[in-house]
Amino acid sequence: MDTLRIGIIGVGWPGQRHIEGYQKNDHAQIVALSDVNTEAAENVRAEYNVDGAKIYGDYKEMLASLEIDAVSICTPNFLHGPMAIDALDAGKHVLLEKPLAHTLEEGERIAEKVASSGRVFSIAFNNRHRPDSVVLKQQIEQGTLGDIYYAKAGWLRGASSFFLRGWFTQKERSGGGPLIDLGVHMLDLTLWFMGNPRPVSVSGSVYHKFTDVMRESGGENVNVEDLATAFVKLDNGGTIVLDASWLSHIEQGDLVYSQLFGTKGGAKIDRGGGKDDLRITTVGGEGAARSTMVTSPTFNTWAAQQPGFMLYESFRGEVADFVDSIRENRQPGSTITHGLDVLRVLDAIYRSAESGREVDLRQPTPADAAPEPGEAVTV
Ligand SMILES: NC(=O)c1ccc[n+]([C@@H]2O[C@H](COP(=O)([O-])OP(=O)(O)OC[C@H]3O[C@@H](n4cnc5c(N)ncnc54)[C@H](O)[C@@H]3O)[C@@H](O)[C@H]2O)c1
Repeated sequence: MDTLRIGIIGVGWPGQRHIEGYQKNDHAQIVALSDVNTEAAENVRAEYNVDGAKIYGDYKEMLASLEIDAVSICTPNFLHGPMAIDALDAGKHVLLEKPLAHTLEEGERIAEKVASSGRVFSIAFNNRHRPDSVVLKQQIEQGTLGDIYYAKAGWLRGASSFFLRGWFTQKERSGGGPLIDLGVHMLDLTLWFMGNPRPVSVSGSVYHKFTDVMRESGGENVNVEDLATAFVKLDNGGTIVLDASWLSHIEQGDLVYSQLFGTKGGAKIDRGGGKDDLRITTVGGEGAARSTMVTSPTFNTWAAQQPGFMLYESFRGEVADFVDSIRENRQPGSTITHGLDVLRVLDAIYRSAESGREVDLRQPTPADAAPEPGEAVTV
């Protein structure tokens, strides 16, 4: 298979990032676009010069085409489950936008389907593919931090503006608020940095302090949290403290971070407010000469200094891993297990917040039998 033939479902902002990713890949060609808004699909086809791509208003018609090997699903959360299952049933490889699904039940249904499909299935956790994430992961694999036993991670937005509309603020369609929208990224990224230990218990709180602000700025039928925080214990003894908010009183517009504490060193990815900082902290010297050393890998090429470079590069990277996985018949870097583990934690945070109790995650699920990145894909 020299060139993979790709269909995109949903051509909004994330769909366009996937299109750019495939266009930068030598082994993929976009042959179809599907969106309920066919006019938008036509505009995107023209804007991105996706010459010859066929347009479908109904994604099921697109899936029936034998001319398509793989699809990217970039539609609202409540459509992830049905679309992913339909695509796997149609024999397509699937790259699905985050989160895996808007409910845990739906996520488990997808996992069962993936297990019997013999197709490559990947979750689009693009934050893993930002250049700063890639550099930090390499450092971790070289042992710079030692054993990472504790992490703090989050994605918080300032209180001065709220711009999300439609399904985002409706739990029935989104699955939740900033936790499932933004927290999902930082939880996945941090678990990945830590080597993907399995979560064993979760204690969480959620807050609804800005529902009026969300309504006043156009949010319809708002019933999701505006801030969530959690304490997650892992099967290797590690702990993650997580927070996510769409509206909170912080200085910056966005505070996006993952801070790792290891036995040999620490590291902090610090994004937002226009900066992309990565700092690695180790202690050098002996006895009285012991001192803290901070290194900051630079991204000082012309390209890296361009606004949005890290973000845009991340979509190229996630698409490249998906395409390579299909060509090499191997599991992608972000497997169904990773997507489902993250979803299990998010679901447990909401359940813990409601019950006021810690939630135990140690029951076996379909994910426990799921494959590792790089393993061969088998039916
Ligand atoms: N990784 C990231 O950085 C990132 C950023 C934004 C959104 N997302 C994820 O992408 C997904 C979509 O987000 P969004 O809704 O804000 O994107 P969007 O609104 O920009 O685009 C969604 C597109 O899906 C289309 N669509 C809706 N129903 C459809 C259907 N039945 N068939 C075909 N097309 C359909 C819409 O017309 C729209 O063009 C969400 O799951 C979100 O979590 C990821």
